[in-house]
Amino acid sequence: MEFFSYSTVIAFFTTLVILLTALYFYARYKLTYWTRHGIEQLPNPHIIFGHVKDAMLFRTAPGLHMGQLYQSARPDAPFVGFYIFHKPCLLIRDPEVAKQMFVSDFDVFSDRHFAGAAQKDSFGMLNLFGLKNPAWKFLRSKITPILTKGKLKQMYPLLVETSEPMMKFLKDGVEKKEQEVKKVDLRDLLSKYTIDLTANVGLGTKTDSFHNPNNVFTEEILNMYHGTDRMRALITVFFIPEIVKYGGSLLLYKLKYAKQIFWEALQSREKSGATRGDFIDALVSMKNGEQNPIYKFEGNNLLSQAGIFFSGLESASSTSSFTLMELARNPEYQKLARAEIREIIGKHGWTVEAFEKMKFVDQCIYEGVRMHPPATMLDRVARRDYQIPNTDFILKKGTPIFISLYGMHSNETYFPEPEVYNPDRFSDNQKPDAFMGFGIGPRMCVGVKMGMLYTKLVISKILTRYDIYQPLEEKVELDKRGTLSIIAGGINVQYIPLDDQLDDNNNVAIDV
Ligand code: HEM
Repeated sequence: MEFFSYSTVIAFFTTLVILLTALYFYARYKLTYWTRHGIEQLPNPHIIFGHVKDAMLFRTAPGLHMGQLYQSARPDAPFVGFYIFHKPCLLIRDPEVAKQMFVSDFDVFSDRHFAGAAQKDSFGMLNLFGLKNPAWKFLRSKITPILTKGKLKQMYPLLVETSEPMMKFLKDGVEKKEQEVKKVDLRDLLSKYTIDLTANVGLGTKTDSFHNPNNVFTEEILNMYHGTDRMRALITVFFIPEIVKYGGSLLLYKLKYAKQIFWEALQSREKSGATRGDFIDALVSMKNGEQNPIYKFEGNNLLSQAGIFFSGLESASSTSSFTLMELARNPEYQKLARAEIREIIGKHGWTVEAFEKMKFVDQCIYEGVRMHPPATMLDRVARRDYQIPNTDFILKKGTPIFISLYGMHSNETYFPEPEVYNPDRFSDNQKPDAFMGFGIGPRMCVGVKMGMLYTKLVISKILTRYDIYQPLEEKVELDKRGTLSIIAGGINVQYIPLDDQLDDNNNVAIDV
């Protein structure tokens, strides 16, 4: 029995071919948006994915992929057009242009592109990372005072106390006789420290991920850091935030236990009126303070604030593990860093002021962030039509602009021999304009001081007790699924107890 006549089948296929051909030419046309408007664009966009095919298919880590796009442009192009699928985006290559757009013209570029996502559910978005203006501006004025030096001094004892199980874990490793060479995976070590610190500072609760690694909270957060759900969510949010509107909370990672811990801590703190110098103290006072209709400290908005510690401290964890890795690969800088730490801690003790005085360690960290930026790109979106300086071109409202940190930081015009770890690039308090590891402009990282304190504390604790070593030949590869820089196979270093270790009271401790 025949269902369709021959002529119907022919008509169907002819229509299909015409339709596909029309779609093909339409896509090709869309992918010439920039050249049609006289702006240089990257070559060979893919007919479906535009320029992000390898990142979307998890073939290259998205941060590195953006770096490759940066490098594939004409070396002195100040900016180039490219496409995420068919959406025209601008990649800023020149630090001066970046400054103009991200700093001087901040009123046009004060929102992130990924803030375009519908801001429903989500731990990650209803806070400074994701909010649009005017809510962002209001919230920034509330969060900035919580992360000042004065407030950090109150949090500092929590940072130190949380480092104790980590140091004990290393010491226990030394004492285990069966293993001659002591090895530790810095990624794992600092993820666990960070989880405990996030619980302690952000959620007002103590955990010990070193000696109790299977507790539900630790497992949940480790899974968030390294699992596929959040990676997928982050790629979506960064590259195609428009679809979060439709997928909504389904795309974004859900933290069951973290939420539970948070609400319990908030409620019990409100009831008891006790304070302990953590973020919950600040939230309780914001909740009970005067409210602004633009953004109220209530319901899920409160929970989302804790989200800044999840992402922020994760960046601090990567910064510390990458910097320690580079010091393990470059013993001459490790020695200099250790000498500075010992001298300053010897004079000023384990205090916040001591860490502020560590200038060479600062340089080592900046250089670590230059080579391995934890956040791999900066993004903004034009809030209105905007004439790009020195051109007649009007960038349309809604166009995303990006800076690739891997690209910018490995441009040899700004950083000669970019593949070489050289903290001296940052000597005499110099930070080249092309260094953007903490972002630029009014929307740069609000947690820099805390991130630097965390990193210096961790580096100081480890280097005053151990020599660390990693052969230069050892390969480190980024996880292909992450928009953040994460080493796929961990960062393994050897650690050897120093003969003259410095203990917490600045004494040379023989038995540590
Ligand atoms: C050393 C570690 C850190 C690095 C390398 C880092 C890097 C960055 C970068 C590159 C941005 C984007 C800036 C921009 O778009 O211009 C950012 C934003 C942000 N960071 Fe950090 N960060 C670190 C630590 C922290 C910590 C410890 C916290 C929180 C306690 C934090 C909280 C934030 C927040 C809330 C934003 C969004 C700021 C806004 O949009 O107003 N960061 N960070």
